[in-house]
This record gives sequence, structure tokens and C-alpha cells, in this order.
Amino acid sequence: MKILITGGTGYIGSHTILMLLNEGYDVIVIDNFSNSSPKVIERIEFLSQKKVCFHEGDIRDERFLKSVFKEHVITTVIHFASLKSVSESISMPIEYYDNNISGTLTLLKVMNYFGVNNFIFSSSATVYGAPSRIPLDESCDTGDTTNPYGTSKYFLEQILIDTQRANPALNIMLLRYFNPVGAHSSGFIGEDPNGIPNNLFPYITQVAIGRLPRLSIFGDDYPTEDGTGVRDYIHVMDLASGHVAALNRQHVLTGLRCYNLGTGKGYSVKEIVETFQKITGKKIPYIVSARRPGDIAECWSSPELAQKELHWEAKRSLEDMVIDAWNWQNKNPNGYLE
Ligand code: NAD
Ligand code: UD1
Repeated sequence: MKILITGGTGYIGSHTILMLLNEGYDVIVIDNFSNSSPKVIERIEFLSQKKVCFHEGDIRDERFLKSVFKEHVITTVIHFASLKSVSESISMPIEYYDNNISGTLTLLKVMNYFGVNNFIFSSSATVYGAPSRIPLDESCDTGDTTNPYGTSKYFLEQILIDTQRANPALNIMLLRYFNPVGAHSSGFIGEDPNGIPNNLFPYITQVAIGRLPRLSIFGDDYPTEDGTGVRDYIHVMDLASGHVAALNRQHVLTGLRCYNLGTGKGYSVKEIVETFQKITGKKIPYIVSARRPGDIAECWSSPELAQKELHWEAKRSLEDMVIDAWNWQNKNPNGYLE
């Protein structure tokens, strides 16, 4: 039983691969390094003490994909490969739709050609758009997305629903991640964004390490307890274990399934900054600036369905997320660049 992981040298893929290798799974990894470093493979090999079977290439390249599927008997695909920057997607919509949608369509065609029926898809809480109610459960409305990245995830969910309807032999899980943060506790693998980070956690750790002068808090006039945005942050190792749970349960949870992967708890930007300062002893200078367009006041998950059906729940605390995010940044001030 071989598991194909697309986008496997990226942030979430790398943590998931490590966990799968440690659990004894046989994994085949694909990435084009458009947003990751080959060093990730060495580090996973060091941590797992196992060789990683890696193929460099693009999921839009049908010939490349066919050569990989021909070489290995693949039973399941975990599909992480995607472009993921909200701001970049607004200025480069064609590249985003091409990479995320054309790439997934090519992958689905090749899976169909080789008769591979199990698919686990990286979706996002972003498909819920402005929440109709909180906590968000899987039956909440989707589609009111505010940027091409989010829309590509929404479109892909619809494409996958239609594809599974046309071919009931397909088992598809849509995993809607909330806000993944943190790193493996070794500090050997972690999140390494290109350029100036868009997301809160890497921004804070880069301020703490001295790469950025201060944090801008995007708005303190939201209708939340302290006025700053509230999100459901989930430790990336908990997210990785969510994929292992999905993989272990897919033979029972057949057809099309959709699960939130979150903790069910929300923290505000100010609570994150305060927790970070308390745990690391590092001062995070900040200013309060205007709200970021497209941001919502608050969003957290109902993780109940995943608890019930995947037998999975997030176990790590906000403190763990901060400790591990800081440990990674501190040991790798420039990410994977030495
Ligand atoms: P990432 O950018 O770190 O990893 C994605 C990987 O895919 C990268 O290594 C990149 O090089 C590779 N890739 C992109 N396009 C490719 C292509 N055409 N062919 C081959 N490889 C390609 O991102 P991540 O944070 O690990 O996210 C993984 C998945 O989870 C993505 O689908 C993302 O949209 C989704 N997601 C991420 C978050 C988050 O906050 N990180 C939240 C919700 C959903
Ligand atoms: C963002 C994306 C979302 C994506 C998610 C995870 C937007 C509008 N949404 O969500 O599509 O799925 O990342 O990758 O970009 N904040 C600051 N200062 C900063 C950065 C963030 O105050 O420098 C605040 C934000 O306003 C928000 C919170 O911190 O309240 C979390 O922001 P972020 O980490 O970017 O995640 P999301 O906005 O939830």
C-alpha cells in the first residue's frame, strides 16, 4: 500500500510525511519546489531514519504523473500541492486557477487512468467565507469566498463532489484546515514562507528573531472581546495526525466526506502576542493598523464530526504551538536557507 503525497516538501506535507513514515506507511512524494526546499527531504530522512522516495515534477504535467503512477502501485493520494498566498492570488488569478485547478484535474485524470480511488484533499476554512454562524460546522454555507485562492478551493470542492457523484467507487475526503501553525518539536522542519509572511505566526516569529521590526495588528475594532481578530489555530502535528486518521478510516468512511480540522477554540491576535511574549520572553513591538481587506472578525471550528468519525482530535495547546514555532525559527533564523 503506497501513498502518493503531492506537495510533500511544503509546510503541512513535510510534517505529515514524517508522521506517516514513523507509522510505517510507504510514501511516494511529488513536489516541484515552487514553494519549498529540497533540504526538507534530507531533514525528514534524518528525523525518520528512512529514505524518502521523491519525484521532482509538476502535477500539471500528465506525462510526469503517469510515469510516477506506472512505477508505483499507489492506493491513495493525499493532495497538498497548491499555491496558497491570498494576496498573490489577487494579483495572479490565472496562475492560481491554473496551478490549483488544472493541476488537480490532471491528477484526477491520471488517478482515473490507473484506477486509483482514494483521495484526501487539502481544503480550507476559507471556503466558508464570512461565517453564517460560529462555530463553523461542515453544514455551514460555503462559496462566499473573497479571493482567487479561496475560490480555487471552493471550486475544487465542487469539482470533487461532481467527480465522486459520477464515479461512486471514488472515496474522497475534503479536509478543511483552520489555521495551521507551529512545527515539529525537533525544530528540524517548520514553516518557511517566501518573502514577508502574510500570516500571523510566521510574522511574529520573524519579528522575534529580528528579521522584521514590528508587527502590524490589522484592526482592533472588531466586535470581539479585545477588538482583534479571533482564529482557530491548530498545531501542524495535530493536522498531520488528522491525515493519518483520515487515511486509517477511509476504508470505512467511503464516498464523499468532509471534515473540519480545527481545535474548536478561538484566540485573538492580542492573546497570541501576549502568549508568545510570556513563553519566549521576547518583546513583540506592534502597531495597530487598518483592517486587512477580506478579513473576518472571528472564525473557529466545530471539530465534532472529525472526533466522531475520524476518531481524531487536536491535542496540542496554544503554548505548544508557540514553543514549537519559536524553536523552529530560533534554530533556523533564515528558514531552510543556511
Ligand atoms: P506549502 O506552499 O508549504 O506547500 C505546498 C507545496 O506544493 C509546496 O512545496 C509547493 O512547492 C508544492 N506545489 C505547488 N504547486 C505545485 C505543482 N503544480 N506541482 C507540484 N508541486 C507543487 O503549503 P502548505 O501550507 O503546506 O499547504 C498545503 C495545502 O494545504 C495547500 O493545498 C494549501 O492550500 C492548504 N491549506 C494550507 C493552509 C495554511 O495555512 N498553511 C490552510 C488551509 C489550507
Ligand atoms: C489567512 C487567509 C486564509 C488562509 C489562512 C491560512 C486571508 C484574508 N485569509 O487566514 O485564506 O486559509 O490564512 O493560511 O489572508 N494578522 C495581523 N497581522 C499580521 C497578520 C495577521 O493582525 O501581520 C491577523 C489577521 O487580521 C487575523 C489573524 O491575525 O485576524 C490571523 O491571520 P492569518 O494568519 O493571516 O490567517 P487568516 O486571516 O485566518
